[in-house]
Amino acid sequence: MIGDKKVLFSGMQATGNLTIGNYLGALSNWVKLSDEYECFYSVVDMHSITVRQDPAELRSRARKLLSLYIAAGLDPEKNCIYYQSHVSGHAELAWILNCFTYMGELSRMTQFKDKSSKHADNINAGLFTYPVLMAADILLYQADVVPVGIDQMQHLELTRDIAQRFNAIYGDVFTVPEPYIGKVGAKIMSLQDPSKKMSKSDENPNASVYLMDDPDTIMRKFKRAVTDSVGVVKHDEENQSGICNLIDIYSACTGMSVEAIETEFEGKGYGDFKTKVGESVVEKLRPLQEKMADLEKNKDYIDSVIKNNAEKAQYFSNKTLRKVQKKVGFPERIR
Ligand code: TYM
Repeated sequence: MIGDKKVLFSGMQATGNLTIGNYLGALSNWVKLSDEYECFYSVVDMHSITVRQDPAELRSRARKLLSLYIAAGLDPEKNCIYYQSHVSGHAELAWILNCFTYMGELSRMTQFKDKSSKHADNINAGLFTYPVLMAADILLYQADVVPVGIDQMQHLELTRDIAQRFNAIYGDVFTVPEPYIGKVGAKIMSLQDPSKKMSKSDENPNASVYLMDDPDTIMRKFKRAVTDSVGVVKHDEENQSGICNLIDIYSACTGMSVEAIETEFEGKGYGDFKTKVGESVVEKLRPLQEKMADLEKNKDYIDSVIKNNAEKAQYFSNKTLRKVQKKVGFPERIR
């Protein structure tokens, strides 16, 4: 708890172009929850270097991502929006938690298996211990809740296991966090292969809709979206995974229920439906894109957010870090 509020932590990697999956699965829930909780939203740039990055590009993407959090509707006066690399406690706690995490647990992580097969020439130790850094992010702020998409559930379960293991030895040090998975949009799939999740790193540009895509591009991508030969707009995951994904996207953008959507498109063809889905995404992204363009002009404002929030995050994270250091037996600092 901070004051009378429970704590929320979440983060995104500044790698690749963000997709509507990131937005509908995570960012839009962050905005919904932001009044209720004391929130920490991090641009997790330290996680990004588990895969080789161009330094200038990483810096620029990280700054854009931080601005995007604000453009999506998170007020940086009320929410702590900051770069992970500006708060030393993330790395310090990650080291300690590494000593409480088993190799076997980390070898089972599906993201590690995926990424190591994609980057076979660079299977570095950071890629392997990535989930421990993520656990440190969350536990450092004693987060009660962590809003994420379904793909991050396994990492969150590991975080809970690490916290419980540590608490069993040293007493109640960490809050054991709960995941928050939105009702709609928690797993947006590729538009070209609905058996795969929509991903920033997909090589096929038609597979993902990026948050900064212009309206024509968005409409074109939806028109090309893979469907099926059934010809009915129905939420049937097994036989109509493409249509099912489009229904989820439409539902997340309009707030309509699946049943209402099925009724709206009864007797209508896929062409009409795809156009409507595309339009709903264009409308959903419009305010975000406009605000981004404004923020890009406002360098001093973004700089002040970066500075003030890093100090705030450092302050809160230090409380947990000092406690943990004491518990494991590090000598006290002399003041
Ligand atoms: P990342 O950067 O891959 O994704 C950021 C968030 O977007 C969600 N997401 C999706 N949701 C629905 N459909 C999709 N197709 C889709 N693709 C991505 C992710 O679930 C995530 O919530 N390891 C994390 C970042 C991280 C983190 C943390 C998250 C680091 N530390 C602490 C929470 C708490 C990651 O790589 O997310």
